Amino acid sequence: MSRFQNRVVFVTGAASGIGRSTCLRLGSESAQIYGADVDAAGLEETAGLVRQAGGTMEAATCNVTSRAACFDAIAACVAKFGKLDVLANVAGVVRFSHATETSEDEWNLMLAVNLSGPFFLSQAAIPHLIESKGNIVNIASNAGLMGQAYTVGYCASKAGLINMSKALAMEFVKSDIRINCIAPSGTATSLVANVQFPSNPDGALMDRYRGFRPMSQPEDIANVIAFLASDEAKAVHGAVWEADQAVSAG
Ligand SMILES: NC(=O)c1ccc[n+]([C@@H]2O[C@H](COP(=O)([O-])OP(=O)(O)OC[C@H]3O[C@@H](n4cnc5c(N)ncnc54)[C@H](O)[C@@H]3O)[C@@H](O)[C@H]2O)c1
Repeated sequence: MSRFQNRVVFVTGAASGIGRSTCLRLGSESAQIYGADVDAAGLEETAGLVRQAGGTMEAATCNVTSRAACFDAIAACVAKFGKLDVLANVAGVVRFSHATETSEDEWNLMLAVNLSGPFFLSQAAIPHLIESKGNIVNIASNAGLMGQAYTVGYCASKAGLINMSKALAMEFVKSDIRINCIAPSGTATSLVANVQFPSNPDGALMDRYRGFRPMSQPEDIANVIAFLASDEAKAVHGAVWEADQAVSAG
């Protein structure tokens, strides 16, 4: 399969987990990838893996919480590759805490990385995507579809991302661009491995969102991103796709 021949794809969170798998998936399908992340070493590792597999990837550090940095990064991508076909907003952070103990810094960080970053990048990317008839894929979470105890800021940021996608989908419904969201459940990445749970959590509340099936692998979610970003999904615009092993279904 080579669904991304002559396509330029901007991927955030490219240094790790789902973002890295997305670079590898799309790179194996001939995409020209512009990978962005705050983790310079992880980015270089991803770029090395993509190139080793025969793909093309430019790696650039970018902190998506800065609107100026987002605009600069999109401009640098277009300057490098001449256009932009896909924006994949994958970067994200999670913090767990009791709601009443969530600090201002934790709250602001989740809102800034998970919601403001994708918005700033969308603002910068949309004029280019209108030109290329391209699309945006936002990685939300099933935490944006259901209430999950001990991570209220994450839930709020991901619910915001889902409705931001729908609002943009409607505002640009008369253009040729597509804007979609994916809502994964637990996926085996460093984000999950590094989670610090709050003291004395009520396990029964957490069982509600642990689900019954094993966690997804990052490449499983990358496959869904690849499909939605490709022309195969041309009928899909303004959608939220659960990739969550039915966690939010019950
Ligand atoms: N892993 C899961 O269980 C899971 C479930 C649902 C949704 N998600 C979402 O999937 C996305 C990818 O997560 P992952 O599991 O691959 O995690 P990960 O921690 O492996 O990767 C996240 C990447 O985002 C980058 N990042 C963090 N802050 C940034 C910033 N300010 N600017 C630029 N990059 C930044 C990190 O450096 C890291 O490389 C996130 O949006 C996450 O919320 C993950």
